[in-house]
Amino acid sequence: MTAVRLVEAGPALAGVVAAMQRACFPDDPWSDESVATLMDLPGHAALLLVAGGGDPQPLGPQPLGFVLARAAAEDGEILSIGVHPDARGGGHGRRLVAAAERAAAALGATVLFLEVAEDNMPARALYKACGFDAVGRRPKYYRRAEGRVAALILRRDITSAA
Ligand SMILES: CC(C)(COP(=O)(O)OP(=O)(O)OC[C@H]1O[C@@H](n2cnc3c(N)ncnc32)[C@H](O)[C@@H]1OP(=O)(O)O)[C@@H](O)C(=O)NCCC(=O)NCCS
Repeated sequence: MTAVRLVEAGPALAGVVAAMQRACFPDDPWSDESVATLMDLPGHAALLLVAGGGDPQPLGPQPLGFVLARAAAEDGEILSIGVHPDARGGGHGRRLVAAAERAAAALGATVLFLEVAEDNMPARALYKACGFDAVGRRPKYYRRAEGRVAALILRRDITSAA
């Protein structure tokens, strides 16, 4: 397998993170500004997964994936996570979830929460494989062309992740 590495994305890479978010969520894209604002807040972490080793600047080829996470006291949260459509099925999602756990733990979190659409089967399978359990459900949470679908709230202890 090609080597991959995680890059901590600071404000200079906000545009790259936003472009990845749009590639992964074409129906619900975030603006460069909203991503940059999130990345600037205390207690937030943004990570890019990129191919190859070496110098983190420039990033080189298309990043493989991204994750945005935050922590407030013991509660961590994955805000957004995605793997580029051309790079799925190779374990990058697992790598990014693990990276989010480490980042949230380093910020002081002991549990990690996230929301996933009930009809997002690849993501639900990923989180199940990573040990998350459903702890809540928000009906009619995500908009779809044909109506609305529920959000599941998932949780995982990350006390050993740091
Ligand atoms: C969800 C997503 C991040 C998964 O990324 P990925 O790199 O393909 O995932 P991985 O290769 O690490 O898969 C890990 C596990 O997840 C499960 N999984 C991932 N994609 C799957 C799919 N399409 N169907 C079934 N199971 C899947 C499998 O259990 C897999 O384990 P295995 O490889 O041992 O079988 C990716 O599909 C994505 O970016 N989707 C669009 C954005 C999104 O929905 N983000 C999550 C919002 S909550």
